[in-house]
Amino acid sequence: MRENASLHDYHTFGIEVSTRFLEEVHTTDEFLKVYRDSRYDDLPKLILGGGSNVLFTHDFPGLVIVNRLEGIQVLEEDERAVRLKVASGEIWHHLVLHCVENGWGGIENLSLIPGTVGAAPMQNIGAYGVEIKEVLESVEYLSLEDFRTYTLRNEACEFGYRESIFKHTLKDKAFIISIILRLEKKGHVLKMNYGDIREVLEKNQVNDPGIKDISQAVISIRQSKLPDPKELGNAGSFFKNPEVEPEVVESLLRKYPLMPNYPMPSGKIKVPAGWLIEQSGWKGKRVGNTGSHARQALVLVNYGGAKAEEVKDLAYTIIEDVESKFGIRLSPEVNFI
Ligand code: FAD
Ligand code: EPU
Repeated sequence: MRENASLHDYHTFGIEVSTRFLEEVHTTDEFLKVYRDSRYDDLPKLILGGGSNVLFTHDFPGLVIVNRLEGIQVLEEDERAVRLKVASGEIWHHLVLHCVENGWGGIENLSLIPGTVGAAPMQNIGAYGVEIKEVLESVEYLSLEDFRTYTLRNEACEFGYRESIFKHTLKDKAFIISIILRLEKKGHVLKMNYGDIREVLEKNQVNDPGIKDISQAVISIRQSKLPDPKELGNAGSFFKNPEVEPEVVESLLRKYPLMPNYPMPSGKIKVPAGWLIEQSGWKGKRVGNTGSHARQALVLVNYGGAKAEEVKDLAYTIIEDVESKFGIRLSPEVNFI
């Protein structure tokens, strides 16, 4: 246990904040022991994976529990598919590389997303045309109300775009212990339609791409756009891409005919928040120690020594500017703590 511990190295935004207590846990039993320890009875508690989707807005007045549960286990395997049980503290990208090396298809488009496996179902991580819900069979969690273990099948997780039951009904009520994924060994259809994947493959003269080629293409696209948190503090996309009514998009297209827009199965239309922020004049703009990134406007960064208040102020100014120009209100993707 550490007391008055700095959280600087436990989250990717690099904000100087501390927590009253910090414990790292390696097993579910350790988690239970720490969580139920009478010393922490009346204190707020926060579970942290890699801290890559949080913005600490103040010193944390309670207990931060850092998840270090490890293990990747093959539950079942035949010539077509493999079922994997993965402990929640595993690093997501390590899991992706492990699967890519083994030729197991399904999560290669999700290469290089920071953070842990346990946080992945929280917001149904997604990138380059794939979301984890497409390969996720179930989530095992410990209830923080009755301290029993439950398994939620995919359909019960209420997955949506950057959404799940863990952000709503089960918010602060569940510790995700492990997940089960079903990946393909044979007949896997590669997803190459999103963004620049095909372009990168062509440039690298890959004519008959495999799982590893897709993973490498995604890695190189991401490295060319997204700031590395080790060099520039950030939490990835700060806002979600808004899903807007078709009438609103139609009227905006009359004024901004080049506005990118993507119809969704729901009937709504997704408009890239990065475009809205760029058009509002914020791309690459620095305010004090924070700003919108020069290569990806949707990512707010910490140039060093940024205070949470500065980041919050910038985020709300951007929200207001985008709303007054386009009538669309952005909502944060990052979890404010
Ligand atoms: P944390 O930030 O530690 O936690 C996030 C939330 O989940 C917190 O509320 C926390 O309390 C809760 N939580 C964490 N673990 C558990 C658990 N075991 N049980 C219960 N609750 C838990 N996301 C995408 O979807 N797609 C992207 O392409 C993407 N790109 C990114 C790029 C960069 C450079 C960065 C910095 C972030 C990016 N993200 C992306 C966001 C982030 O990586 C993901 O949301 C990731 O899943 C967060 O994992 P984490 O372990 O760091 O979660
Ligand atoms: N765009 C701009 N200016 C910018 C950035 C983007 O005009 O500065 C426009 C362009 O039209 C571009 C489009 O937005 O074609 C989409 O941009 P990009 O492919 O970079 O993706 P994104 O919509 O900005 C989303 C996810 C990312 C994910 C990528 C790739 C959200 C909130 N973000 O970003 O996820 O990696 O797609 O699939 O859905 C994250 O969640 O933290 C994250 C990084």
